[in-house]
Amino acid sequence: MLTYILLLAAYLLGSIPSALIVGKAGYGIDIREHGSGNLGGTNTFRILGKKAGFIVTLADILKGTLAASLPLLFSLDLHMLWFGLAAIIGHVYPVFAKFRGGKAVATTAGVLLAYQPLMFLILLVVFLTLLFTTKYVSLSSMLTAVAAVILACLEGDKPLIVAISFIALFLIYRHRANIKRIMAGTEPKVKLKK
Ligand code: G3P
Repeated sequence: MLTYILLLAAYLLGSIPSALIVGKAGYGIDIREHGSGNLGGTNTFRILGKKAGFIVTLADILKGTLAASLPLLFSLDLHMLWFGLAAIIGHVYPVFAKFRGGKAVATTAGVLLAYQPLMFLILLVVFLTLLFTTKYVSLSSMLTAVAAVILACLEGDKPLIVAISFIALFLIYRHRANIKRIMAGTEPKVKLKK
């Protein structure tokens, strides 16, 4: 019974729409009506600036970290990735925001931070290198997800290989509008210098 309650808690945690909360409470803006319309850190950076963007990205990462840590916190002999997956599903399909949420990037990063901190750090370097090279957050996110699958395969952690492969495919699917924009040359690039 506790398992189901905690899986539900992980989903509800992931469902907390930090971009919506920060936008509405801090700026009186619903970011679903601006930019890409995505409830995520990138769109928050785009519409509300650095401070709000960092807060939302951090909150979305922490949702994944906390959710994946639930079995440890409650001393349950259950795989962390199940709880991470529940949080990722909550983040993408949040019950608190009409099931229209983000694209799984930051919350997945948070799950990896809890489960494999070293892999999180390697992927952070990969992501930042790609971002500085391509200037596309979406493309960098998708390529980093592919890198995560490769790292998991090299490590040979079977549950992680299965989970991260599923998440990477799902994450790329969630970026289908970005892929169309990249191919059309209309995807916004980030400005990394002031
Ligand atoms: O975090 C999601 C990012 O990869 C793309 O966001 O707003 O450009 O669609 P966005």
